[in-house]
Amino acid sequence: MSSLLVTGGAGFIGSNFVRFVIDNTDHHVTVLDKLTYAGHRESLAGLDPQRLTFVQGDICDAPLVNQLMEQADAVVHYAAESHNDNSLNDPRPFLDTNVIGTYTLIEAARKLGKRFHHISTDEVYGDLELDDPERFSESTPYNPSSPYSSTKAASDLLVRAWVRSFGLQATLSNCSNNYGPYQHVEKFIPRQITEIIDGRRPKLYGKGENVRDWIHADDHSSAVLTILERGEIGETYLIGADGEKNNRDVVETILTVMGKDSQDFEHVADRAGHDMRYAIDSTRLRTELGWEPRFTDFSEGIARTIQWYQDNEAWWRPQKDATEAFYAARGH
Ligand code: NAD
Ligand code: DAU
Repeated sequence: MSSLLVTGGAGFIGSNFVRFVIDNTDHHVTVLDKLTYAGHRESLAGLDPQRLTFVQGDICDAPLVNQLMEQADAVVHYAAESHNDNSLNDPRPFLDTNVIGTYTLIEAARKLGKRFHHISTDEVYGDLELDDPERFSESTPYNPSSPYSSTKAASDLLVRAWVRSFGLQATLSNCSNNYGPYQHVEKFIPRQITEIIDGRRPKLYGKGENVRDWIHADDHSSAVLTILERGEIGETYLIGADGEKNNRDVVETILTVMGKDSQDFEHVADRAGHDMRYAIDSTRLRTELGWEPRFTDFSEGIARTIQWYQDNEAWWRPQKDATEAFYAARGH
């Protein structure tokens, strides 16, 4: 048994990872999370207190980071400001958490000689044309579009430089769009589900033609655990489950599963600089490390996600009004 320090473990993907680790391994988990608007202590409710220690704090706080890392065998770094629309409104927190926070963690990890896994996103590669025959791979050049994705790209480059210059024992992964339980209602899929629950119409940015490559959060978790256990130090692995869909198709699926007219949505103002298409080629992860996704039926995964939001209104309701006020002020 070993001890994992998980940053951002009260957020969407981090909390799903903590649950996955506790269900599938003997590891002890310590979560370091600032509990920003995106972090929820309730997302870790019901987990065995013998297996989980929760610490509220900032990844930019070097003394705290050093103290927690001394007690850990390995670090999995999820904490981030994660929402593109917020980064277009106020980029500064993205620089603080995504860049300085990552710097603070890798400085501690290299001084203490700890194994480090850095969680990143396919958005660092920019976007593809709808008819582009190539997908993103480990060799695609970085070309981020938004304040969010540019700070994630910066954090990836810091980790790579610390590997080369200081011998940091790190791996990196860049994953496509996740869906599943515990995702903040500011994000596309939970926003549309909760709009329908509230008797309003789903909202598509622009024409709704933008394509995202959807993966269930549990498949992201199994991939990260695989890389942590068997990944080669210094290497990057792309994580994806061949789940490309345009936004209009996703909204139509949600409306249909929820028993509504599949065309009962509206078009709203587009996102500035909106990336057209993301698509991941995860051949390397599959062939070299033997990983495969389990959730390959998107409609079934969406139906279970919808059910989760219907059953867990107490979790998301406190976020909803502020989120919609933010979007209303921007014509979204
Ligand atoms: P999220 O916004 O739901 O959660 C982020 C968590 O980080 C929150 O719990 C928040 O409180 C915490 N946090 C923020 N700033 C912090 C700080 N300074 N110190 C400590 N904790 C802090 O994000 P998410 O969607 O779960 O994304 C998690 C990670 O996965 C991010 O690194 C993101 O870039 C990456 N990622 C996300 C997706 C996706 O589809 N959501 C896809 C690929 C990669
Ligand atoms: O690709 C991985 C990335 O996926 C992660 O790095 C980010 O942290 C995560 O937020 C996500 O980024 P996106 O910008 O792709 O996700 P978002 O849920 O914000 O939007 C998905 C698509 O849906 C995008 O094309 C914008 C569109 N959209 C979004 C909202 C909130 C709408 O059409 N309507 C909406 O109401």
